[in-house]
Amino acid sequence: MRVCVVGAGYVGLATGVMFGKLGHEVVCADIDESRVKTVNSGKLPFHEPPLETELSKLVKKGMLRATSDQLDAVREAKFVFICVQTPSLPSGRIDIGPVKVASRTIAKGLARSEDFKVIVMKSTVVPSTTDSIVKPILEKGSRKKAGEGFGLCMNPEFLQEGSALKDSMEPSRIVIGSEDGRSGRMLEALYRPIKAPKIRTDLRSAEMIKYAANVFLATKISFANEIANMCVRFGIDSEPVLKAAGLDPRIGSLFLKPGLGFGGSCLPKDVKALRDRARAEKYDSKLLASLLKINDHQPLEGIRLLEEEIGDLAGKRVAVLGLAFKGGVDDIRETRALPLIVELLAKRARVVTFDPMAMDNFIRLMPSVEYAESASDALKGADGCIVQADWPEFKRLGKKEFSRMRHPVVVDGRRCLEPAKVRASGATYLAIGYGLARKNK
Ligand SMILES: NC(=O)c1ccc[n+]([C@@H]2O[C@H](COP(=O)([O-])OP(=O)(O)OC[C@H]3O[C@@H](n4cnc5c(N)ncnc54)[C@H](O)[C@@H]3O)[C@@H](O)[C@H]2O)c1
Repeated sequence: MRVCVVGAGYVGLATGVMFGKLGHEVVCADIDESRVKTVNSGKLPFHEPPLETELSKLVKKGMLRATSDQLDAVREAKFVFICVQTPSLPSGRIDIGPVKVASRTIAKGLARSEDFKVIVMKSTVVPSTTDSIVKPILEKGSRKKAGEGFGLCMNPEFLQEGSALKDSMEPSRIVIGSEDGRSGRMLEALYRPIKAPKIRTDLRSAEMIKYAANVFLATKISFANEIANMCVRFGIDSEPVLKAAGLDPRIGSLFLKPGLGFGGSCLPKDVKALRDRARAEKYDSKLLASLLKINDHQPLEGIRLLEEEIGDLAGKRVAVLGLAFKGGVDDIRETRALPLIVELLAKRARVVTFDPMAMDNFIRLMPSVEYAESASDALKGADGCIVQADWPEFKRLGKKEFSRMRHPVVVDGRRCLEPAKVRASGATYLAIGYGLARKNK
């Protein structure tokens, strides 16, 4: 089967590689020529090593290629997946401009084809986008009716960056929303080799399932942060508290960990987009508003811990380790490093930063702060350090590195270091959701 993926980003390439591995011929269409070149050379435009290995094998075998000729790619395919970005506008509403542009081109491809193709919306879009915006564009541009001249499905993506390939090959569920039975059945058949529960719904329910899932994850993280912030003030370590709470199967332990807040390409934007969509129906969600407030506050908790230990930050040198929104990726979308650094600068701290993979991306966002060559160099002469992303290499930092600090005070903003190792190096260890490991340790 020929599969076309429109948008060679995280989701598009993970989807493309997954279908390529299932034996289908995949074409990834993108408007970004440099991405097309990168993919055709067997490389990824982002850091995701296992996905890159498989992509490279498929490119070599001729099973996957990228193109900027979207029209041709659509005409040749039986299934066309829309995987373009849907970023937040300043109001919180999602920008569906890229979805509209992609849909118009797909419509032209449909107009010039004879066969019944299934168009699959994979980008995250608020309920009613597929049937009230995408469908009319496809119908008008192709002069065909959905369900008759072409099929239309909504198939949300649940992968996590850092495990994109595994999440695509072994998903926890596959949601297939469709208006007509034929398209849904065809998409279900395409996914048949993937062992996962297949949930068939209508288009709007499929769109809403993605938001329900992401809002729940954001709620769990924010709940952990709220409990942790109270624990710090009560002199309690939040770690055993949350661990014990999470052992209840009704709660569950994943995502129940305090930190400096959630970032990335999905959770913040999805919470904002759903709030905006609900407001359009005159429903003001108090939960969604609270999630955003809690998340905005969270980087300040890390700064507060540092200030408690070293006082006024004006003129102090603070090392921020980790600029990506989490360890293991180079994605800086909605990273908490940004509000963290902005606040440190507002307090007139001198900020030096390091990230193993995300520095090139972050420099474009914030060219004026100091960038170190290594975590060890960032620590040199620092009065304090805040670990913002849970990179495994930060766990290896010990005496050699922390002893380079002028005042070795370390705020573990992700609870990813080994406290005993940090303390053994002579540094003061401050854990988010605990504080000063309370002077009694
Ligand atoms: N990244 C994730 O972890 C993740 C997980 C689940 C769902 N999603 C959702 O999937 C969607 C895609 O996210 P992403 O992170 O893969 O985005 P991305 O920014 O990594 O990739 C989008 C790609 O689409 C291309 N593009 C834009 N307009 C185009 C057009 N008209 N024709 C062809 N290509 C076009 C861009 O050049 C880019 O390469 C979003 O709605 C996102 O919310 C993302």
